[in-house]
Formats: sequence, structure tokens, C-alpha cells
Amino acid sequence: MTFLGVGPLGGTYAACYAELGYEVLGYDVDAGRVEKFSAGELPFHENGLEELVRKNLATGRLRFTTDPDEVAEFGDVHFLCVGTPSRPDSHSADLSYMESAVTTLATRLTRRCIIVGKSTVPVGTSSWVQQLIDKHSPKNVEVEVAWSPEFLQEANAVQDVLRPNRVVLAAQSDWARDLLHAAHKGVFELAALEDRHVPLVVTDFATAELVKVAANAFLSTKISFINAMSDICEVTGADVTALARAIGHDARIGNKFLRAGIGFGGGCLPKDLRALSARAEELGVGESLRFLSEIDAINIRRRSKAVRMAADLTGRGSGPAGPELSGVPITVLGATFKPDTDDIRDSPALDIARRLAGAGASVTVYDPLGVDNARAQEPQLRYAASLMEAVDGAELVCVLTAWEEFRHLDPEALTDLVASPRVLDGMNCLDPQLWRNAGWTYRGMGRG
Ligand code: UDX
Repeated sequence: MTFLGVGPLGGTYAACYAELGYEVLGYDVDAGRVEKFSAGELPFHENGLEELVRKNLATGRLRFTTDPDEVAEFGDVHFLCVGTPSRPDSHSADLSYMESAVTTLATRLTRRCIIVGKSTVPVGTSSWVQQLIDKHSPKNVEVEVAWSPEFLQEANAVQDVLRPNRVVLAAQSDWARDLLHAAHKGVFELAALEDRHVPLVVTDFATAELVKVAANAFLSTKISFINAMSDICEVTGADVTALARAIGHDARIGNKFLRAGIGFGGGCLPKDLRALSARAEELGVGESLRFLSEIDAINIRRRSKAVRMAADLTGRGSGPAGPELSGVPITVLGATFKPDTDDIRDSPALDIARRLAGAGASVTVYDPLGVDNARAQEPQLRYAASLMEAVDGAELVCVLTAWEEFRHLDPEALTDLVASPRVLDGMNCLDPQLWRNAGWTYRGMGRG
């Protein structure tokens, strides 16, 4: 099998499927990525992936290339794993990487095979991919599109691929369905070996395409719901963390994805939410999904709220242009959109750091893995090499990514370093009592 696009999605899949026993070729137009993978290094951080890449390069089951002829020659099953970012001029998904991957491959195919969509796409994309294939592949070669969405969470991606909580498949002919099953057999065999059950949903193409965006829209809705509740908690003296725990005990609600804070970010949830709204508008059912724009608005308001809270906490308040923080030294702990990744795409932490600097604050950022990426995107901010260096002289410390290193901070050890012991806990990941007992002014999100 081949994986077209070896970013966080395709790169993880390629290594994991080699681990499951398949012969795998990863392809990318980015020669730097291919070179790194081929040398057993990762172009991005993902827990446990480097070991798998090295191990499977050594077995010979895993290889990487920039040569599309080799890809066409090699694969019976080709997985499309390219990015589908937002278009620069709208919230719709940009399918240009997909178009180029499909046409590049299709023109070179020499034998019967399937091309399987894994990337997150607007509903209806698979028939467009089949049209592209029919237009560009040689007339004597039978090529079928199939679909199998992915559900991986960064930092847990290896586990999500090897041990998924469900597999969704769509194919046209019995032949393609059998081949698609065979291409996922390793996942089911591993589950059987470990006495686990992986639910399988075989469905039509439109449903398969919708599963991923529907799941992400639902997760976003949960987070914005609890964030909206946190505003009520704040004005009434209630504690949103206890509220989330209490409602989460109802199995119908569940306790996951109910952490209030500075809102969701990353390369998927925000973009997929907007792309789903845009697609619904195109399909004439925009009204039905209009609430998603409120989910998005609630989420983005968390970021301006954090800046207002920083101004309140430092006794500055707001001027006509919003919160006024001229010259206030503020330390931002966290730049990545979540811990255990170096990914800063649509990171609430980095966006808040940028907004604080925009309000005049003198911002110093520290992140265990994300500093290089953050510096490339926000070069105007100051970056510290260590946590201790970052907090030195701060009038306010903002914890904006829930890294282990921050969650277990000892407030006593920081007190003498900062100019004023004030902390804004944007992730509700600190123990308020511990910090207050150490003499700090503590503010969480929706915690009274
Ligand atoms: C997400 C989906 O979880 C995954 O299933 C899908 O395949 C891709 O998108 P990911 O982007 O890796 O995965 O991150 P996730 O762990 O879902 O977190 C997304 C954002 O939501 C982060 O900014 C996180 O801090 C935030 N979040 C998460 C909350 O604010 N509260 C929560 O309770 C959970």
C-alpha cells in the first residue's frame, strides 16, 4: 500500500501499517519530509512514532519516495492523506493538494487498484475524485475510489491508528470492498490478539465522508457548551470544573471534552467546523447547521476574554481600543495547541500571546517543544529557553497549554522569580488552593 502525503496523518499511518505487517511506500512532494523519514527522523513531533519508523525502515517494509512513478508501480491500495486546509478566500476546504495527488497518480497507473480517501473532505468529494481518476487514468486500467476516514488525535496518533475505536469503510464493487477489508485486516487481527473489539461500519460514500466532520463538529460543540457554561459559573460564583464532573457522570453526556478554558484550536476542529458550515450552505441546508457559527464564535471569544482577564488581573482594565497592557511583562507558558506536540496551527495559546503583545504587553513565551514553530509564525514575541527564564520578572504568568511540566509546577519555587505572584490558568489545569496558599492571586476560567 502507499500513502500519498506523509504529514502528521499519512506519516503516522505509513509507519503504523508497516508495523501491522503491510509493505508500505510513503510519498510526498516535499523532499525534506521524505529525506527525514528515510533517515529515521520525524519532520514533526508525534509520541512513539520515531521508534516505529526506524524499526520498520530496518525491516524493509517501510520506504519513502518523491517519485510518483514508483508509487503507481508499487501500490494495490493507495491512501490519500494530503492536507485539506481552508481556502484563503473562504471557509471551504481547499482540495488542490488532493486534485494534484490524484491526477499525478492516476496518469501513471498501470494495473487495477483502489484509491482510498483518508483526508477530511467536504461531503461529495469521493465522486469528484472518481471523475478525476476516470479522466486521467489509462483507459485499459480499472481504478476505483474507496473511502475510509481517519480519526487520529495528535500526541495519541500511533495508538489511534493501531488501535482505533472504529473503522469506517465505503467502496463500490465487491472486489474493492474485499481489497479495502484486506487493507485493514491487520487492525482487526491486532485487536483479536489483544482481546479487543473494533467496531466496523460499512456504509455509503456520503456517510463515510460526513463521519469525520460530524464527529469533529460534535466535539467542538461540547467544548463550546462547557465554555459558555463557564461564563455563567463565573458571574454566579460556581465552579465549572465541578459542574463538568457532575454532568459527566451521566453516561449519556460523558466526561470527555468538557474541560473549559481558552477554547479549541489545532489543525482540525476549527477548520472542519467552518468547512462543514460552508458545505451545508452550498447544499442549501445552511440554516440547519447555523448554530455551528455560534460554536465558533463562543470559541474565539475565549481568546479575547483571556486578554481582558489579563488586563483585570494586572489592574489595567480596558481603554477605547480594548484591554490596555502597555509595558506589562507577561509570561505565556505554552505555544502549542495542546501538550505533547510541536503543532502551533490555530493555537489558542499563541493567538492569546499575540493579542497580549498587541495590547502592549511585553510578552515572553516558553514551550517545551513549540518554540521554533512559534517563532517562525510570531517573530515579534520573545521566547525563553527555559521555564525559569520565562517567568523572571513577570507581573502575570498565563498557563495556556496544559503541558505536564506546567501542571505540576511548584508555585513556591516561582514566587521569588516573578515581579508579582499572579497566575491566569487558561486550561484549568492547576490546583487553585495550592497556588493561593503559596501567596498567588489565582484566576481560572469559570471557577468562581
Ligand atoms: C481532533 C479530534 O479529537 C480528532 O478525533 C480528529 O481526528 C482531529 O481533531 P486534535 O486536533 O489532535 O484531534 O486535538 P484534540 O485533542 O481533539 O484537541 C483539540 C482542541 O480542543 C485543543 O485545543 C484542546 O485544548 C481543546 N479541548 C479539548 C478543550 O478545550 N477542552 C476539552 O475538553 C478537550
